[in-house]
Amino acid sequence: MTISSANIVKVELGDRSYDIHVAAGLLNKADDYLTPYARGGRLLIVTDDQVAAHVLPLIIDSLKKADISCAVFTLPHGEGAKSWAQLEQLTDWLLEYHIERADHIIALGGGVVGDITGFAAHIVKRGCHFVQIPTSLLAQVDSSVGGKTAINSGAGKNLIGAFHQPALVLIDPNVLATLPPRELGAGFAEVVKYGLIDDAEFFAFCEREAAAFFAGDKDVQTQAIIHSVQAKARIVAADEKELSGTRALLNLGHTFGHALEAETGFSQRLLHGEAVAAGIALAFRYSVRVGLCGEADAQRVTALLRSVNLPVSLQDAGAVASGKTLAGHMLHDKKMSGGTLPFLLARGIGKTFLSHEVQLDDVAAFLDEEAGF
Ligand code: GLY
Repeated sequence: MTISSANIVKVELGDRSYDIHVAAGLLNKADDYLTPYARGGRLLIVTDDQVAAHVLPLIIDSLKKADISCAVFTLPHGEGAKSWAQLEQLTDWLLEYHIERADHIIALGGGVVGDITGFAAHIVKRGCHFVQIPTSLLAQVDSSVGGKTAINSGAGKNLIGAFHQPALVLIDPNVLATLPPRELGAGFAEVVKYGLIDDAEFFAFCEREAAAFFAGDKDVQTQAIIHSVQAKARIVAADEKELSGTRALLNLGHTFGHALEAETGFSQRLLHGEAVAAGIALAFRYSVRVGLCGEADAQRVTALLRSVNLPVSLQDAGAVASGKTLAGHMLHDKKMSGGTLPFLLARGIGKTFLSHEVQLDDVAAFLDEEAGF
């Protein structure tokens, strides 16, 4: 399969369209990309304490060359930062720096940094702009594109938020070398997902190139990221606010995954991408059970995820519980509508669709079998 080598992907959203640049080493020349956004010769950067140690110095050095000064707000690393308390501190900080509506905040980090910074950009002074510089694989291939921004509430993840598109996304595959292997794996689940949705050829690419991807092959990583963001950009352009069902396809594996995350306390015990991997494997096995999908396809999916050390079962995910308990977690899913839960199922690899026919009792019985009850 030949994947386009073009490294600029456009998200077509009328006057809110924006470019995603993907290139290894791009952050060494961050000033080339960011100078137009440095009003008055300064930039406000939001990051976290891990990224501040590994990637931030590269950006600051590059911006110094262009005489751009930076002020930096550093969040604690991890999902806990997506809180009202941190949002308040962040917005206070932006106001202290006299942010104006024409300014662009730089979100430098993984999904947590992108989500809270995007939400702050949406609400501060009734809306300013932001640029995404995602540093985790998951953020590079999914959360930095498409404008979903949020913080968590006591009632659940991402329940307080808004659609607010970035003005630019800069993706440097070189930063993946700074990630712990578990985080790289978690992001790979979201890469594989694009193949499973509607692109069997890309799934085959993932099977062929998984070893090279994890060995740090920059070419393979860049191709996989470009292909993923092309898919995401198409889906977002077709259904920005998840109204028609197209964008919902991106939730493949997420309903099962959400139940596993809830069961493991939304903690480091099971990263979001790991929960998605197990959720995808479960969605395929459930699709086999209800006669939609051939066994061989479900086995290919499981084999690929397992080969890169991702969990593919309740046992692997450390979330063995009764079907009733796990299905109970699904009732808190944001996608619940009129008391029913739409489910992403598959007729095969590259043939995912949204079903409104799934009965939660049947899912619970399936999960009891999976748990060995
Ligand atoms: N991460 C799913 C979406 O952006 O819709």
